[in-house]
Amino acid sequence: MSGIFITMEGPDGSGKSTQIELLKDYLSEKGYDIIVTREPGGTQISEKIRQIILDKENEKMSDMTELMLYVAARAQLVDEVIKPALDKNQVVISDRFVDSSAVYQGIARGLGTKLVYEMNQYAISRMPDITFLLDLDAKEGIKRKKHQAALDRLELEKLSFHEKVVEGYRSLAQEQDRIVLIDATLPKETIFERIISVLQERKIMK
Ligand code: TMP
Repeated sequence: MSGIFITMEGPDGSGKSTQIELLKDYLSEKGYDIIVTREPGGTQISEKIRQIILDKENEKMSDMTELMLYVAARAQLVDEVIKPALDKNQVVISDRFVDSSAVYQGIARGLGTKLVYEMNQYAISRMPDITFLLDLDAKEGIKRKKHQAALDRLELEKLSFHEKVVEGYRSLAQEQDRIVLIDATLPKETIFERIISVLQERKIMK
């Protein structure tokens, strides 16, 4: 297997972008060739799909449509960006990936994680080498988001939906060794140090 595939997960407002920026700079300085991407999005087509998914006016969207749109956006991103980068031995850091679908559509929407992972088999060529989960209570995540720009269709979901997301992430992290849970209320420097030490402990990077 070539390249290194790292994903960052967590509820809205958990600070994924900050950690991705820190990690990108750190790995670039170490000489790694890095690509940062995000889901849903990261390609022209996937960004268009993102707009449809997150549009507040699309209240009627069924849960299955939502799942399929996320999978479609992911299929395009994998083909166009992630797979070619890994084939070229680059490091790919993705802000969200298949575990977001497992938690948001599988658990919070209730479609089931088995179905979600199965459907994603058609879109993805390889699972991440490691996934960091920034764990944050739903109420705190919403509070942090409210300080930001206008909320999207998913962020506007009720508190119980966001609580299911948080619980879903926690149970996924317990089931899968690939997913490393980190307390997102810690100072950002402490979170980052933990990320680096896990990458070294697991021999994902030097
Ligand atoms: P973002 O705000 O982190 O860019 O993500 C957009 C929203 O989409 C966020 O609320 C999480 C949600 N999402 C899913 O529901 N399923 C998925 O597969 C992905 C990638 C994101």
